[in-house]
Amino acid sequence: MKILVTGAAGFIGSSLCKKLIHDNNIVVGVDSFEDYYEKWIKDKNINEIIKNQNFKLINKNLIDPDLDLDKLLTEIDVVFHLAGQGGVRSSWGKEFEIYLNNNILSTQMLLEASKNSNIKKFIYASSSSVYGDTKDFPLNEVNSFTRPVSPYGVTKLAAENLCYLYYKNFNMPSVMLRYFTVYGEGQRPDMAFHKFIKSALEGLPIEIYGDGSQMRDFTYIGDIIDATLLSINAPSGRIYNVGGGNKCSLEQAINVIENITNLKLKRLYSNFQKGDVYKTEADLRSIKSELGFNPRFTLEEGLSNEIEYIKMLYNID
Ligand SMILES: NC(=O)c1ccc[n+]([C@@H]2O[C@H](COP(=O)([O-])OP(=O)(O)OC[C@H]3O[C@@H](n4cnc5c(N)ncnc54)[C@H](O)[C@@H]3O)[C@@H](O)[C@H]2O)c1
Repeated sequence: MKILVTGAAGFIGSSLCKKLIHDNNIVVGVDSFEDYYEKWIKDKNINEIIKNQNFKLINKNLIDPDLDLDKLLTEIDVVFHLAGQGGVRSSWGKEFEIYLNNNILSTQMLLEASKNSNIKKFIYASSSSVYGDTKDFPLNEVNSFTRPVSPYGVTKLAAENLCYLYYKNFNMPSVMLRYFTVYGEGQRPDMAFHKFIKSALEGLPIEIYGDGSQMRDFTYIGDIIDATLLSINAPSGRIYNVGGGNKCSLEQAINVIENITNLKLKRLYSNFQKGDVYKTEADLRSIKSELGFNPRFTLEEGLSNEIEYIKMLYNID
């Protein structure tokens, strides 16, 4: 198949590209190398992939007028739209404009171009952040309220709704995946595990927002890739949670890091951050029964892999 991956140099996009190329697909990747985090990390994500003759990288923003999206989509079978500005805490204030452009406008422009193409599936990387704070768990795609508590979540929900309304109006073969806190090799440096592991290995204290009791459904990158590939066969117009089934508190996850590394971490506690929800837990019944998805990785396995990755990334023994 010929596949377009947007956000190809990012954490999840680069892992997806690796797997798609390994499975003998022809892949076109688009990425604007946003400065949300260090460029050298994205270069590292993608440097092996670009050597493959079945991969082509386009270093442009999806909203760049110089990028001919209609032409780009010619002969593409499947679009994985992962490009986006991540991060809940940095989406307040002036930065919001970046979120508008990279999460909403870019999605709308890609959908407009896709509606004139022959693509068979358009898969959008949405987020558990569309749900917001609630006391009803697990979070269900149909019954749970979508009321985000961060500007980031608002933009992800808006883009998800755009994917749905292009399906409704133009038969766009959209599938929306709500990823829950993704971790593992390649995890973004602004995300908690990456920061905790790096600090731990460097003998520095870690900063915890709140008291560490907040719960997350942590999802290992390998499981995210499985679910994302399975979604090619999903019925159009559907929304699926993608969780790892590794629901635990931040404090418990830190204990796992301590056990694996044999290091005692010094914890510094600061205020809960605005935009962070207290708990996430995915209802996985739809994706399990309809797509046959089953998370395979335990938190111990996933964190062990991430620790090895961080050691390699920063040359720490
Ligand atoms: N990492 C998570 O835990 C998580 C959870 C839920 C949803 N998601 C979503 O998954 C997707 C990938 O996340 P990630 O963690 O890999 O982030 P990432 O920042 O590592 O990757 C996103 C990539 O998209 C690129 N990009 C951003 N806007 C672009 C644009 N307009 N045109 C072209 N390229 C653009 C960036 O340069 C970056 O390399 C995002 O859409 C994110 O919202 C991630």
